[in-house]
Amino acid sequence: MPDVITLIKAKRDGARPLTDEEIRWLFAAYARGEVADEQMSALLMAIYFNGLDAAELRAWAAAMIASGERLDLTAIPRPTVDKHSTGGVGDKVSLILAPLVASCGAAVPQLSGRGLGHTGGTLDKLEAIPGWRPSLTNSEILETLGDTGAVICAAGAGLAPADRRLYALRDVTGTVESVPLIASSIMSKKIAEGTAALVLDVKTGSGAFMKDFTKARELAETMVRLGEEHHVRTRALITRMDSPLGWAVGNAVEVEEAVTALRGDGPADLMEVTFVLAEHMLALAGIDADPRAAIGTGRALRTYQEMIRAQGGDPDAPLPRARHAEQALAAPESGWISRLDALAVGTAAWRLGAGRARKEDPVSPSAGVICLAKPGEYVTEGQPVVELRADDPGRFAAAKEALAGALTVSPQPPAASPLVIELIEARQ
Ligand code: URA
Repeated sequence: MPDVITLIKAKRDGARPLTDEEIRWLFAAYARGEVADEQMSALLMAIYFNGLDAAELRAWAAAMIASGERLDLTAIPRPTVDKHSTGGVGDKVSLILAPLVASCGAAVPQLSGRGLGHTGGTLDKLEAIPGWRPSLTNSEILETLGDTGAVICAAGAGLAPADRRLYALRDVTGTVESVPLIASSIMSKKIAEGTAALVLDVKTGSGAFMKDFTKARELAETMVRLGEEHHVRTRALITRMDSPLGWAVGNAVEVEEAVTALRGDGPADLMEVTFVLAEHMLALAGIDADPRAAIGTGRALRTYQEMIRAQGGDPDAPLPRARHAEQALAAPESGWISRLDALAVGTAAWRLGAGRARKEDPVSPSAGVICLAKPGEYVTEGQPVVELRADDPGRFAAAKEALAGALTVSPQPPAASPLVIELIEARQ
């Protein structure tokens, strides 16, 4: 019979990999309360330093999935395909993509979490819509997926509950930033959700969770391999997150921009990422359709409206608007914007009230930042580059502090850099 101290020492010393049986035992014993939180924390720290090899990671993710229920979506009369983003600033792609891909014939079961820190959460954004509710029962999820094809809702407590406990430990022990622990955390939830195919948007750059490209690639490769090992057809795109995606950063303001995009007037950078992700999702679902046509005909917008109504929301209701607005970040000279730092803008939106510091904090639906100009655009000296929005004007000073140094203006236009950097596919 394994014992946890032996497992901790084996990982601490990098002496040998853990066996499948030891990992299965560990999770079962942790669930029974026979392994204490401090012992699990010590093991997580040993993994942070010494990693998990491919076989350990497969068993680790399998144990996380087996800790809860696995949704069975096989009765849905459409191919299932989902997308997951590692999180970025102004990343409202899911709001457009889920109804867009559903309107082409797929079922998109997007079970999501909430935002933490400078990147916003999809559920927080949708909750800005009057009446919209994030929680659905499993039978409501199945029914909506069959009818509308798209569901964006809160992942229930039954999906990979071990991840919830482990993430809480990692959060307070400095062990979040580990590729195998992040990969198993994200993929255990996506695999348990029951989707047959998955496209991952792994962001890299100042506003991303993985700022470093090499680490982002390692995470993408690890997640693609885990997906394939668990029979989920998986691809990953590594995309640039150095400046905000689109114009709006916040909750209601991002919903508004997503609707504008579904009407066919979305900003170029947002649409570039959305269409590439849609093409890969449709390819994995085996559907031959043009996502641009789904926007052009209004089909994607109609699916969005159905999706919102199915969860009690009124897609035509006015969205909350902040009581105060103030322009900021004046261009220091005339020239072309070569940098508008995503992390700084995300932090400003967060300080205005759009995001939360702890997971129990409320968010303001109306707070946020609107970019008035973006990299590649010409500005004249003194021209404000962002507009800050908040209900509490006392928040403007801290938001402006976050924006110090966020802007670079150059005498020449910056070289265009594609947003999609690399595609990672499963090795055959
Ligand atoms: N998101 C997750 O779901 N898990 C992690 O470990 C990190 C980001």
